[in-house]
Amino acid sequence: MKTELEDNKVDEILINAEQLSKRIAELGTEITADYDADDEVVMVGILRGGIMFMADLARHVDLPVIFDFMDVSSYEGTESSGVVRVIKDLEENIENKNVLIVEDIIDTGLTLKHVVDFLETRDPASIRVCTLLDKPERRTEKQVEVDYNGFEIPDKFVVGYGLDYNEKYRNVPYIFVLKPEVYE
Ligand code: XMP
Ligand code: MG
Repeated sequence: MKTELEDNKVDEILINAEQLSKRIAELGTEITADYDADDEVVMVGILRGGIMFMADLARHVDLPVIFDFMDVSSYEGTESSGVVRVIKDLEENIENKNVLIVEDIIDTGLTLKHVVDFLETRDPASIRVCTLLDKPERRTEKQVEVDYNGFEIPDKFVVGYGLDYNEKYRNVPYIFVLKPEVYE
């Protein structure tokens, strides 16, 4: 089915719905195998982009899972300092809990670095990181450890499946590159 979106907005579909669901199922299986069967895992979804991924991933994680969310934002113009503001903190107490951070995309890695450092101060039993997308070319913080990575992608601005441009396209069921004219 050709849609208005595909005709006018999509430059290139980078990862289609079938590829997403196949890879997410694999990640879920991998995560399930890495914990003990009775380990409770607090999945921390990073708003807003991470929620599609988290919802689909969690269905493939056969462990006791708790959902929680954080919202963070990078300070404009200070990207290199890694200063990130916490807009919404967790509801759960994560002390001695297994935390799995679920991110849509890791670009420079600065957001993730801040979130991990912030949560470490609460003495969780473990912190692991699962990202759907990774742009390794853009990484500045090499020390950020990513435990689970769905797809490595080139340094292009991508949207869909949780990712937005001006809050749009989050509901599109695949990951795509926007046509340049959409930005103009
Ligand atoms: P850093 O650089 O801190 O950035 O790893 C991570 C955050 O930047 C946003 N981001 C994107 N959002 N398409 C998007 O819609 C992209 O290609 C993209 N690259 C980075 C995103 O909010 C992510 O959490
Ligand atoms: Mg965004």
